[in-house]
Amino acid sequence: MFRVLICWVMIVFAHNVNAASVSATSPNGKLKVLVTDEKHPSYRVFYQDRLVLDWSKLGMTFASHHPLTDGFTIKSNTKRTSDSEWQQPWGEHQVIRDHHNQVTIDFQHPRQSANRYQVEFKLFNDGMGFRYRVPAQTGLEGNIHITNELTEFRSADFKTATAWWIPARGWNRYEYVYNTTSFKDIDRVHTPFTYRATDGLHVSIHEAALVDYAGMTLDLRRDGRLKADLTPWSDGVLVKKNGAFTTPWRTIQVSPSATGLVNSTLILNLNEPNTLGNVDWVKPGKYIGIWWGMHIGENTWGSGDKHGATTSEVKRYMDFAHKYGFNGVLVEGWNHGWDGDWYFNGDVFNFTKPYDDFDIEAISAHGANLGVELIGHHETSGNVTNYRQQMDDAFALYQDNGVTQVKTGYVADAGQIKRIDENGIVRHEWHDGQFMVNEYLHNIITAAKYGISINTHEPIKDTGLRRTYPNWITREGARGMEFNAWGSPPNPPEHTAILPFTRLLSGPMDFTPGIFDMGFKGLDANSDRPQTTLAKQLALYTVIYSPLQMAADLPRNYEANLAAFQFIRDVPVDWEKSKALSGEVGDYIVMARKDKHSSQWFVGGLTDENARVVNLDLDFLTNNTRYKATIYKDGNNAQWETNPYDLIIENKLVSPSDTLTVKMAESGGFAIKFSPL
Ligand code: NOJ
Ligand code: CA
Repeated sequence: MFRVLICWVMIVFAHNVNAASVSATSPNGKLKVLVTDEKHPSYRVFYQDRLVLDWSKLGMTFASHHPLTDGFTIKSNTKRTSDSEWQQPWGEHQVIRDHHNQVTIDFQHPRQSANRYQVEFKLFNDGMGFRYRVPAQTGLEGNIHITNELTEFRSADFKTATAWWIPARGWNRYEYVYNTTSFKDIDRVHTPFTYRATDGLHVSIHEAALVDYAGMTLDLRRDGRLKADLTPWSDGVLVKKNGAFTTPWRTIQVSPSATGLVNSTLILNLNEPNTLGNVDWVKPGKYIGIWWGMHIGENTWGSGDKHGATTSEVKRYMDFAHKYGFNGVLVEGWNHGWDGDWYFNGDVFNFTKPYDDFDIEAISAHGANLGVELIGHHETSGNVTNYRQQMDDAFALYQDNGVTQVKTGYVADAGQIKRIDENGIVRHEWHDGQFMVNEYLHNIITAAKYGISINTHEPIKDTGLRRTYPNWITREGARGMEFNAWGSPPNPPEHTAILPFTRLLSGPMDFTPGIFDMGFKGLDANSDRPQTTLAKQLALYTVIYSPLQMAADLPRNYEANLAAFQFIRDVPVDWEKSKALSGEVGDYIVMARKDKHSSQWFVGGLTDENARVVNLDLDFLTNNTRYKATIYKDGNNAQWETNPYDLIIENKLVSPSDTLTVKMAESGGFAIKFSPL
């Protein structure tokens, strides 16, 4: 017994010899980080004195330089406080407050060459971020190949917490049905990765400002350690650098409620300000498109009898857009390369050669007369070298025809992006490795030169770069509406009750809501079709933030239900402020947003497979104002499987002191427009 005690004392003593630690808290004092160099550089996170992340390692290793790991000690630290506001050119909030405490820690090694690096922590009330800064130094010359980032997030709750996640390094990129499991049963996961502890603490781990670095996925190791697992290059290296470098921010959002995660602005606050200067040419808007017809098999992208992108069809869509107030018409399948199995046509896509039945000049002239823009489309099918060789010409053609928005596509299995390297050798890369991180951004920066905004499909995940490059206007990066056309299985009822607390924490999504005809393959519940009520389709416009929102269905289906369509016509896409009013991950959410260009408010609520009643306190509305509330809600007999179309539209006079009670059907929802009287 005595011997055991001595041993224990010696270990504790040995560990503490000269160990240094540094701490910092958020402005409200609730969130705290403690950093130590005991054994190896590590950090720990508390929320209101409750342990959130236990000792988690910091550091990285290189292929042919000394590692930044054991033996580094804290040499000094610098603290700073900052409280400012900044404006978004477009967004879910017009003004964002950036209030944080920062501590930068200098680590040094007493012996090895490559003996310095910093870790910079920023603590906000809604979460924290940290990143590595590695200066140029003796011992770190030449090409630096990162072979391991040691960063860990060691959850104190992994034995009992519930997690929502999609697998990383799977063939379908980010387009998976979300898993809801015990934390300890997760796999290698993508971020944002969200979990809830048994006491209700919600945590989401992600990254901000992913530039010239590999995307970070998380791999669960022993004792709840989520280890940074960077997506490699085709040659196995994780990240290639030369000289000084700074990593993306590793982010941890912490909130006692699920809605606290949604209301966080951490990711944007950790990005650099706009570098594009005046961006008045980046225009939020609503659009329709030559699109759903292809997904449900009524049209084809390729040429032939069912070709969708014909001059006459596009003009018909433009007329519809003009009549009902849409800004643009997306046209897919307009250019050479779609014939045959287009998934594998990456080598032959031509981005400047329209099909014969698509007269781009006549179309853009028709649109210009009506005030409706043609929205461009570049599907690469994953051959990014073929795209890059044509990129300038492709944007120039669109610019000449008045196009200011282009949707891009990178349909290819994950790991199968095709590039031809500087030696002419074909390489296959991941969508979320460093090579593609750079390739996506190159596309954005090139587009900016032509006054074009980009909506990326099969993208790299969002990490808030819209702040720095406001023309990166939206993206896909999760299962969207298209899966309800051919997903087998389609998106389950809970899908859009999970997205706000996971994928959407990273930024806007081009989900493409608004399907009115759910019976295109029959209303049978097992078919591919939206597993929602009609009211829930309307709710998506407020719940899912995107500065570009599509009305995805065919014009004829809207003309058959103009009363419900009115909500899509009315709902804005650019907001002064936004607030999640209530919700639980995977169950339901209610979002309120205030229009940036009027005094109107909009609220959207939706639920999973369970019907539920929400009591909506209207105290978010402007004081001393009475409003007409136009309510679109599930009818008494609505139910997604058997009766999706039962919709009630009613008007009520309300004031901020009122409470509205709304019943949502199974996989139902509601949408409300509040107009001041
Ligand atoms: C996948 C995109 O998500 C979808 O919107 C598009 O229609 C097809 N690729 C074709 O580019
Ligand atoms: Ca897709």
